[in-house]
Amino acid sequence: MATVKFYGNETVPLEMHKVRIVQKLSLPPVERRLEKITEAGNNTFLLKNDDVFLDMLTDSGVNAMSDRQQAAMLVADDSYAGSATYTRLEDKLRDIFGMHYFLPTHQGRACEHILAKVFVSPGKVVPMNYHFTTTKAHITLQGGSVEELVTDAGLEVVSVNPFKGNMDIAKLRAVIGQHGAGNIAFVRMESGTNLIGGQPFSLANLAEVSNVCKEHGVPLVLDASLLADNLYFNKTREDHCKAMSIREITRRTADLCDIIYFSARKLGCARGGGICIRDRALFEKMRPLVPLYEGFLTYGGMSVREMEALTVGLEETMDEEMINQGPMFIGYMVEQLQERGVPVITPAGGLGCHIDAKRFVDHIPQSQYPAGALASALYIASGIRGMERGTLSEQREPDGSEIFANMELVRLALPRRVFTLSQVKYAVDRIAWLYDNRHLIGGLTFVEEPEVLRFFYGLLEPVSDWQNKLVAKFREDFGDSL
Ligand code: F0G
Repeated sequence: MATVKFYGNETVPLEMHKVRIVQKLSLPPVERRLEKITEAGNNTFLLKNDDVFLDMLTDSGVNAMSDRQQAAMLVADDSYAGSATYTRLEDKLRDIFGMHYFLPTHQGRACEHILAKVFVSPGKVVPMNYHFTTTKAHITLQGGSVEELVTDAGLEVVSVNPFKGNMDIAKLRAVIGQHGAGNIAFVRMESGTNLIGGQPFSLANLAEVSNVCKEHGVPLVLDASLLADNLYFNKTREDHCKAMSIREITRRTADLCDIIYFSARKLGCARGGGICIRDRALFEKMRPLVPLYEGFLTYGGMSVREMEALTVGLEETMDEEMINQGPMFIGYMVEQLQERGVPVITPAGGLGCHIDAKRFVDHIPQSQYPAGALASALYIASGIRGMERGTLSEQREPDGSEIFANMELVRLALPRRVFTLSQVKYAVDRIAWLYDNRHLIGGLTFVEEPEVLRFFYGLLEPVSDWQNKLVAKFREDFGDSL
């Protein structure tokens, strides 16, 4: 993206790429959308993509690849052990992060599985700026627990704080003091903090966290899945980073950590994942689990094509004009929604635009999953698939009681370089319509509730016939338009 001044006063994020491969979309009529979301148990994860117009479920594995990534996939060296493709990937990671050791995995959560198996045992604590669903599940499965130490500002939905993903250093010291450094499995910092709206941490904050970890001999682990967004915000929002290149900020970030793991479905716009490790002893602790759970050490569950695409994608991540596309489109969408009075998370973060369901549908109690209900209503109103990120995405307490999420969000992910600005404008228009008709939206209740990661495949139904009323109002306002 480039900041090009327009002759008119409009501020428009201008793409620095052109589209050369396209995929046809279809927009089913509103009655069919109601039918499909009902079949899916009001769970947007269970919709079929053929019934979706704009898939804003996630940015995972659906980012657009560059021509160079596609080209690299054709020259991959296919072999179980010692492939040249793997060596290219390992070299690129060493070059970018400066860590000597690498363990490949099939995706991000596989890294979390390995880290949890090696470092977490009953009673162990993992302090982090904020949890992610799969991370927490792996830690608790091992008998450990998570302490969320994001600064209080991180949970303020409306804010001008540029770094809402920062960790509260005083809280970190207190947690280490309380449990004793020996009971801290590791400290985890998540770049582009997913569940609080893709909010970044500052490089200065990471340096403080790193100092505390060194003081107490605790490893610092970075979840770099959303690093590209975090780097862009470091560069544009943090004064001492303005003169640094993206590559320099990346290296400075990596230098503060002991371990970096990532989902390559996000970082590098490819598929797969892996763990970069500075220290040989830590590497040796984790290594035996890779052939056991993932695949041999030179592919770890990834295909050679994925690894080639990732190698090129990682290099492209060092280009500010590439990594700024997501945050600039999201910034535009957030600004447009704010102008129409729609409650959204501010400041705009990475990954996607996050609608604040607590305020959007403030008449729906948390026990009826307001964010889940809003995601369902939005699909009916637009054919857009978003994702609930609220109480539904939490796991019940061992005694069966609900954990009410700090935030009730509907995440509308903008996969990198995938959607056009007119598609974003369509989304803004339909969300604004839904906001004006928000009183029609009602709650949801579980019909089938799985115990672990229930948001992936749980089934729900509306608490009343509110969905039919929403469809009727849509027809009244839009006539026979889709
Ligand atoms: N860490 C973060 C910060 C993530 O956002 C994700 C995935 C993972 C780890 C796990 O990686 O999917 O490759 O196993 N986030 C996806 C999302 C699922 O939609 O936000 P994975």
